[in-house]
Amino acid sequence: MKTVFAHRGMSSLAPENTLSAFALCRENCIKWLECDVDILADGTVVLSHDDTLERCTNRCGSLYDLTEADLDTIDAGSWFSDDYDGEKIPTFEQFISLVNDHELNINVEIKSCTSGWENTLRLIDGVVKGLESLNPERELIISSFNHLALAEFKKRRPETRIACLFENANLWDDWQSILQACGAEFIHPEDKGLTKDRVKMMKDAGYGINVYTVNDLARANQLFNWGVDGVFTDVAQTFPRKYKQDF
Ligand code: G3P
Ligand code: CA
Repeated sequence: MKTVFAHRGMSSLAPENTLSAFALCRENCIKWLECDVDILADGTVVLSHDDTLERCTNRCGSLYDLTEADLDTIDAGSWFSDDYDGEKIPTFEQFISLVNDHELNINVEIKSCTSGWENTLRLIDGVVKGLESLNPERELIISSFNHLALAEFKKRRPETRIACLFENANLWDDWQSILQACGAEFIHPEDKGLTKDRVKMMKDAGYGINVYTVNDLARANQLFNWGVDGVFTDVAQTFPRKYKQDF
C-alpha cells in the first residue's frame, strides 16, 4: 500500500497545521498526515512550520517570544478564508488528542529550532512527553532536517521509527552514513532532482522512502512505480480512491 501524507494537514482545504486541516483528513479518507512542531518561550510545543508569525497568522514576531496564553490572541485562520476566522495555532497536546479521536497516523517533523541547541533539546523532550498520550494503535514517524536533533530523539525513544529529511541540494553520497548514525528507518528526500537510480539505491539499502512535496498526480505515479513508499502532498483530496483508506 502506497501512502499519501496530507502535508501540514489538508493544507489546500484549510489553513496549514491547524486542527481544522487535520480534522479534514478523516472525512477525505486520508489516514496519514504530516505536521511541523516547534516550541514557545514557556516550553509549550506547538504546530507551526515557521518560527515567525507573519506568513500564517494575523501577527508579526517570533514564536520563541510567545507563551501558551498568547495563543488565544492570535488568529491563524483568517488569512486563508473567512470560514477559518479565529482558528488557533494548536498545541501538540491538542493535536495528539485529535489524532487519537480521529484514528490518524502521523509524521511529526521536528523543526530545526533556530533559537539554539538548548531550546532544541527542550523541543525534543516536549515531543517525547506529548507522545506519551498517543494511543499505541496509532502509527508514527518522527522526521527532521536537523539530523543531530533526530539522533537525540532516537536515543530517548528508540522504539519510534525516524526519518532523515534532505533537501536536494544537501543530498550527497554520504546520505547512508547519516541515516546509519541516526538509526533511521526512512529517508525523506525532496522531489526536485530525485531520480530513478537514486530511488533504487535507497530501496536496495533497505530504507523506506517518502518524498516531499508532490502535488502532481503523474509525478506521484512515477515515483510510486520507481518504488517510493509515500508522498507528502498539499492536495491529498485529489488522489484516486486506491490511495485512500476507510476508517
Ligand atoms: O516533511 C516533509 C516536508 O514537510 C518538509 O519540508 O518545509 O514543508 O516542512 P517543509
Ligand atoms: Ca514539514
